[in-house]
Amino acid sequence: MSINIDLKGKRALITGASSGLGESIAKKFAAAGAKIGLNYLSHPDAAEKIASEIKTAGADVITIKADVSDSGEVKDMVNTFVKAWGGIDILVNNAGIDGKHLLIHDIHEPDIPEWEKVIKINLFGPFYCAREVLKYMMNQKKGVILNITSVHERIPWSGYSGYAAAKAGLSMLTKTMAQEVGSLGIRVLSLAPGAIQTAINRNVWDNPAALSDLLNKIPLGRMGKPEEIADVAAFLVSDSASYVTGSTVFADGAMIDYSNFTHGG
Ligand code: BGC
Repeated sequence: MSINIDLKGKRALITGASSGLGESIAKKFAAAGAKIGLNYLSHPDAAEKIASEIKTAGADVITIKADVSDSGEVKDMVNTFVKAWGGIDILVNNAGIDGKHLLIHDIHEPDIPEWEKVIKINLFGPFYCAREVLKYMMNQKKGVILNITSVHERIPWSGYSGYAAAKAGLSMLTKTMAQEVGSLGIRVLSLAPGAIQTAINRNVWDNPAALSDLLNKIPLGRMGKPEEIADVAAFLVSDSASYVTGSTVFADGAMIDYSNFTHGG
């Protein structure tokens, strides 16, 4: 079942929207009446296919190529978006990567660029995008920035130190930004998904032993679906959530609640 959220007339930029959660969020927002800016980096064909599905369903959409970890490209992306739709009401900072599995003591000099890339995409990316859209939102005296973090903003994740550090950092960026712009009518929130079945964790759900280990960590006993995150995202950016800002909303089947303690202790 899906909730009915009204985003009619809202202009929403979604980063990393050519697959996974970003794709679902873009489709959900479009179905709720928003005009969409669908950002992608390396999969133009997928982005165009999603855009044409959105158009066929009757909504307005443009695709914009940009690397969110590059401040110049982010500036151009936001300019393109604003030129097309005349302003911006919603930014969803969704683009992210988890990087290579490496324990910290195994990260040698040649691996540093990989670690840095994770931080640049997952933390600098949202910072650059927010900084650009705030210029417009501050003039309008309204807007919503939704940062997609992860349960790993709170749960440490061995082998993914860069990812966990970036997500924890993004959570604090949310709170700090919410404090800075709250009096201007701008809300800033984090949405923290748990294990949602997308390409990012295919190596886990494709492997029966890894999947069973993962499911033991989720009290709800199953992975989430991208649409279940998109529904929560649509609510959070809508006027129905007008008093929610500065906090993280978890959509994780209770993964953060130490489910290893479901039995024993
Ligand atoms: C990661 C997924 C992982 C989930 C739970 C997410 O942030 O992107 O790969 O399955 O956290 O660990």
